[in-house]
Amino acid sequence: MAYASFGNEVDTWTLIAETLARGKRLVLPLIDRHRDALALHFVCDPDRELMANAWGIREPRPDICPPAMLAELDFIVVPGLAFDQRGGRLGYGKAYYDRLFHSLAGDGAMPFRIAGAFDLQIVDRVPMDAHDVAVPHIVTEARVIESAASV
Ligand SMILES: Nc1ncnc2c1ncn2[C@@H]1O[C@H](COP(=O)(O)OP(=O)(O)OP(=O)(O)O)[C@@H](O)[C@H]1O
Ligand SMILES: [Mg+2]
Repeated sequence: MAYASFGNEVDTWTLIAETLARGKRLVLPLIDRHRDALALHFVCDPDRELMANAWGIREPRPDICPPAMLAELDFIVVPGLAFDQRGGRLGYGKAYYDRLFHSLAGDGAMPFRIAGAFDLQIVDRVPMDAHDVAVPHIVTEARVIESAASV
């Protein structure tokens, strides 16, 4: 599972193209406003199968992209605004990823979770509430941060 980068986020489009070129299955999230959660869909051809949402983030078209189940996720590339050395993550303020991680934890094994970030996004300490779930692996242009983070 990856995310479609937008704005000045670390660009995920090469990763997405390479993932598909290697024959791996790719899941992208879609914001489900009824459930206020991320819906997961398989994407084979991003040029044809994505549509920009209200914020301009490209999302899978649920009419043509098959749904994915939680158990099908084994590797998640996580977006975020800021991270810290302990794997703390500040997202975009809806707890979508925290809730996804809690659902995954309740469902069994937690998939590998990694975030790509610019080094300027690494701060001393991200405020973490009880519901916040850390990201165990963070990669920047300058370093790799591995923490013992888990749910
Ligand atoms: N299961 C939940 N149901 C409803 N609200 C929740 C749930 N978990 C957390 N929240 C609330 O959602 C709000 C936003 O959470 P938080 O600040 O952690 O978002 P975030 O991690 O930055 O966002 P995202 O994961 O979407 O990028 C908080 O006020 C939090 O209390
Ligand atoms: Mg959070």
